[in-house]
Amino acid sequence: MINLTFLVKSDRMNETVSSPVINKTGYSHVAIAFHWIMAILIVVNWTLAIVIDDMPLGPDRITGYSWHKWLGITVLFLVSLRLMWRATHPAPKLEIAMPLWQERAMQLTHIALYFLMFAVPLMGWMMSSAEGYTVNYFGLFELPNLVDKNKELGDQLGDLHGFLAYALSGFVGIHVLAALKHQFIDKDNLLGRMSFSSRLKKD
Ligand code: HEM
Repeated sequence: MINLTFLVKSDRMNETVSSPVINKTGYSHVAIAFHWIMAILIVVNWTLAIVIDDMPLGPDRITGYSWHKWLGITVLFLVSLRLMWRATHPAPKLEIAMPLWQERAMQLTHIALYFLMFAVPLMGWMMSSAEGYTVNYFGLFELPNLVDKNKELGDQLGDLHGFLAYALSGFVGIHVLAALKHQFIDKDNLLGRMSFSSRLKKD
């Protein structure tokens, strides 16, 4: 059983601390680089999937799907590295006073995002294998097939891949709205924890 408690461990402030509290700590530069590179890749790949879906069968659609698979495998590779990094580098101390339920909701959203960043591309790779299409990463080398060819299984994995991708975009939506609320309504500089700004102390 993998121990994922490292994802929720962080020191918290007492919520009775007088507001406004302006955050002064932040994630390490490695964690910030992982965050923004992956955020861009995920948004680009999601947009690509929607665009390809409307394309007629032809060379452009095939090229689009190749890029969709390559970017997805890159996300899978990066999230694996990121989880290993995170397991050994705890989140910086949360200096912002917020109700415990809000902090728990934030942690649960982060766990859901990590799970889905892993599960969505993995299901895509498994679907491709079940449909009999071996993934050739950027035309450089072939990835192993994760399951044997099986059309019915391929359809089911395709449905699961799509469902999880919608769940991922739902959690991303919640995550972004929460970040914007902290930035513009609470004005507590939570976003500063995930920015390269040199004014913050990086844990
Ligand atoms: C405009 C888009 C985004 C903004 C403004 C944003 C903002 C933030 C901020 C401020 C944090 C730090 C929260 C804290 O104080 O602990 C954070 C953490 C995180 N974000 Fe985002 N984010 C965005 C997009 C995304 C996307 C697209 C994903 C993944 C699909 C993502 C996944 C995560 C995860 C997993 C964490 C937790 C990091 C950790 O503790 O290891 N974010 N984000």
